[in-house]
Amino acid sequence: MKEKITAMEQEALAAVAACADLKALEDMRVRFLGRKGLLTDILRGLATVSAEDRPAVGQAANQVKETITAVLDARKALLESALDEKQAVDEACDWTLPGRRAPLGHMHVINQVAKEIIDIFGQMGFQVAQGPDVETEYYNFDALNTPSDHPARDSHDTFFVKPGVVLRTHTSPVQIRVMEQAKPPVAVIIPGRVYRVDYDATHSPMFFQVEGLLVDEGVTFADLKGTLMHFIHTFFGPNTQVRFRPHFFPFTEPSAEVDILWTADDRHGGGTKSRWLEVLGCGMVHPEVFRNVNYDYEKYAGFAFGFGVDRMAMVRHGISSISHVYENDLRFVEQF
Ligand code: DAH
Repeated sequence: MKEKITAMEQEALAAVAACADLKALEDMRVRFLGRKGLLTDILRGLATVSAEDRPAVGQAANQVKETITAVLDARKALLESALDEKQAVDEACDWTLPGRRAPLGHMHVINQVAKEIIDIFGQMGFQVAQGPDVETEYYNFDALNTPSDHPARDSHDTFFVKPGVVLRTHTSPVQIRVMEQAKPPVAVIIPGRVYRVDYDATHSPMFFQVEGLLVDEGVTFADLKGTLMHFIHTFFGPNTQVRFRPHFFPFTEPSAEVDILWTADDRHGGGTKSRWLEVLGCGMVHPEVFRNVNYDYEKYAGFAFGFGVDRMAMVRHGISSISHVYENDLRFVEQF
């Protein structure tokens, strides 16, 4: 008798736990505790138990009834709360409304312009090369024919990391790293961050440059001009007027700065206003630079150039202050 009670208890516990809805649960209540249920059956059999055992068996039967009642109630509460929740969600949500779109990001204007520049040179056969932001003085200056007492060094206002180690002031040191690794012909375009102690409307302590280097036999200044004219006409428009102005850089000889005649809306007078804007530096690679990388300067010639990506972006988009470019104000960023 006692075994029968225990077996029923086990069966009931498993059955209740398996009930997935209130209807199934009610069926189980009837099956185990109902007037014609299993427990009633068992209690009816009590008459056959000896008078001596009867109290213990009766007590066991009552205990089981309590246990089953308790698990039935607990399961019922659980199923009801799940039902409430589903109902609450159903009522709170209008499933017919259109979904909310996640806002899509886009490339920053500097990256857009850098990519465009790299694409233009890429189509001419230049390959992308890169180098470290933290650079030795040797690569940043000495190997580029700018010794420690050279006046050109002052204009760079260098951040020193420790003696002999700087945040690179230009992308030109990567020229040296490339030539140390590869023999001519070399044609690379080198985008990257550069750093200078400088901060005003047109200068940011960190900005982006792109460097170019081409070395081969028989390269002339005409190749340099043709390459840069093609770039400027592609980037600023085919009718852009270009001017090469003699200049000095320690790592090129001869050297030039390149200006474009830029027409912008005249904010004050109305109409438009044109003026010459310096956009890049360039020249023929200095023999001393070739010597530093063990290139035969009798056999090879090369040209190099460098410019600020931010400046290109500012000129083309009419951005008045470089700080806009780096402040990440969404009202600015989202215009591009
Ligand atoms: N490195 C120069 C600068 O930071 C730019 C430059 C000028 C790079 C002439 C060159 C070059 O490769 O030939 O202002």
